[in-house]
Amino acid sequence: MKLTIIGTGYVGLTTGACFAEVGHEVTCVDNNPEKIAMLLKGEIPIFEPGLAELVTKNVAAGRLKFSTSTAEGVESGEVIFIAVPTPPMPDGSVDLSFIEKVAREVAESVQPGQGFKVVVDKSTVPVKTGQKVAETIKRYGPEGVEFGVASNPEFLREGCAIDDLLNPDRIVFGTHDERTADVMRRVYSPFNAPVLATDVESAELIKHAANSFLALKISYINSVARICEKSGADIEMVAEGIGMDERIGRSFLNAGLGYGGSCFPKDIKAFISISESLGYPFELLKQVEEINDSQLDHFLAKIRESLWVFREKKIALWGLAFKQNTDDVRESVAIKLAQKILSEGASISAWDPEAVGTAKKFGNLEGDITYAEDQYSCLDGAEALVIATEWPQFGNADLAEIKKRMRNPIIFDGRNLFDPATVAQQGIEYHSIGRLPVT
Ligand code: UGA
Repeated sequence: MKLTIIGTGYVGLTTGACFAEVGHEVTCVDNNPEKIAMLLKGEIPIFEPGLAELVTKNVAAGRLKFSTSTAEGVESGEVIFIAVPTPPMPDGSVDLSFIEKVAREVAESVQPGQGFKVVVDKSTVPVKTGQKVAETIKRYGPEGVEFGVASNPEFLREGCAIDDLLNPDRIVFGTHDERTADVMRRVYSPFNAPVLATDVESAELIKHAANSFLALKISYINSVARICEKSGADIEMVAEGIGMDERIGRSFLNAGLGYGGSCFPKDIKAFISISESLGYPFELLKQVEEINDSQLDHFLAKIRESLWVFREKKIALWGLAFKQNTDDVRESVAIKLAQKILSEGASISAWDPEAVGTAKKFGNLEGDITYAEDQYSCLDGAEALVIATEWPQFGNADLAEIKKRMRNPIIFDGRNLFDPATVAQQGIEYHSIGRLPVT
């Protein structure tokens, strides 16, 4: 099928590449000419494992094209996906102006003779956005245009987006008519995954409800971790024990510094805001947010308790990205932690396998911070090591080498990457989340 994706951000570009990979002919459109020029040269503006190879392969096969022209994309595409940003407004609601603009541009480009078009919203949006998109196309489009509107939320995780897209747990799309639903079934026929076809509003709600539920699991386990700290229980064992219940599941029960990234913080705020505007204040989600915000202060308090004062201390920081396998620092708890440590007068030597560049560019890190050449030189002369991101190479690090490099062998592990007994054997003071400190 001929598909068009408008917006070559994280979702648009990865989705476009994966649609091409399964055999569709895809045009990715973006109004940023520099971005399109980069992509045409084979340069990928984001770090996502496997994406560069997939783009190169599908461009060479002639299945993936890039353009700055919405009109060109609308003309060629039987299905037009909207994958533009939906940033948060200061009050937590969602700024839908990019969606509205694209819907208008699609309406102004489409011609009656171009056949039935399906306009699909892939961006994460509040429930009822599909209705607005349909109204906009009707209002600004020419008479006689035949189109359907669908909502098709994505469930990809940064860092494993390609696998999530090519081998999804489920495919969800919502439409209000069978003709549009048939088109969506054809789009997804090359994928081997269960399909849930719903109405537009349910599909929109599924996305916010799914992300909120995952965030709820994280805040839940972080609260249980607090009880563990107060009672001497071990959160890793508790998570294992409750996660063995198939009804609960072990995933997203990793206690730590809480969730960050470009999705959860924004989506939870948006869901709270939508619920409120619909007349149901979602109090439970407000608690999820509060618990998440408090994790960082709780962790800082632990560090302060052991180090006493930050001023003039040299802290090694492992992790800047909001999670492993990404260079993304948006809403990264690691960055917030670094900002607080710096503001209290400590110096930081930071290391992240991928996110040093993005942290320098977008992290707003002011103060005495340097960026190390590698994971171990980061530790030289440090009075404490703070681990803020769950990169696997941090958990596999050589503890003897850590101890050798540091001035004081103390680890504050915000992601529970080490076994406390193993660290203790090395003579390293170890503080983590939901487990008693080993000194
Ligand atoms: C999340 C969802 O997992 C995807 O399904 C969804 O499609 C995506 O948002 C989106 O809305 O686009 P992502 O933000 O890439 O994906 O990252 P996650 O892997 O979900 O991690 C989010 C945050 O939660 C990270 O900061 C991570 O460190 C934290 N986390 C995750 C925990 O603290 N504990 C856990 O057990 C799991």
